[in-house]
Amino acid sequence: MITILIANSKGGCGKSTLSINLAVALALAGQDVMLADADRQKSSLAWAKRRPKTAKSIAVADWTKGPGDVPKRITRLIIDGPAGLRKDGFETLVAEADLIVMPVLPSSFDQDASTAFLEKLDSLKSIRKNRKGVAIVGNRMRDRTRAAERLERFLAGLGHAVVARLRDSQAYGEAAAQGLSIFEIKGIRAQLRDDWKPLIDYIEHGVL
Ligand SMILES: Nc1ncnc2c1ncn2[C@@H]1O[C@H](COP(=O)(O)OP(=O)(O)O)[C@@H](O)[C@H]1O
Ligand SMILES: [Mg+2]
Repeated sequence: MITILIANSKGGCGKSTLSINLAVALALAGQDVMLADADRQKSSLAWAKRRPKTAKSIAVADWTKGPGDVPKRITRLIIDGPAGLRKDGFETLVAEADLIVMPVLPSSFDQDASTAFLEKLDSLKSIRKNRKGVAIVGNRMRDRTRAAERLERFLAGLGHAVVARLRDSQAYGEAAAQGLSIFEIKGIRAQLRDDWKPLIDYIEHGVL
């Protein structure tokens, strides 16, 4: 089993969006996926409740009070991480993970929060000792805007791999409202799905 923790202390940067879409993408690729919601807002759990019966089923678990059991059949565990860093709870989740995926928004305010979060993450023993991977994902990117350029420079300076850049699209909200992912709704641009390929390749074929 590969465990992926989606984390950034900042709310609204796309943790739940990444968790949901990644869960479905990996399930459609043949993995047996469980989505564990560790955030008190419980966005992933609410999404799962809205999920149509006809859609590919994704196992979900409430981890808001700490890690729970994972059935043996599960091959990919995705943890939708909490906003904020309650000390012990966060370290426990990091310890569970093989890979940490961190969404970052182009705004400078978010970048300051992300730097602080990465410093905290890098200071954790499990990251230092096992050299656990941290994959950065630029989220809500709009091409050729100044904010995007700033983000690219900022990401390059962080010292972690920037594995994917996801563009800003209403389709994310529209899909989530229906309990779906962007991989399941019709009439969206192929580019939007292509944005995910580097991240999926990194998880499925990268050095873990
Ligand atoms: N790439 C994107 N394009 C457009 N909207 C996005 C994108 N990523 C996230 N959002 C929207 O931003 C809001 C916050 O995202 P969410 O995933 O809930 O963040 P978090 O879980 O980190 O608090 C949601 O309304 C979501 O639909
Ligand atoms: Mg969330």
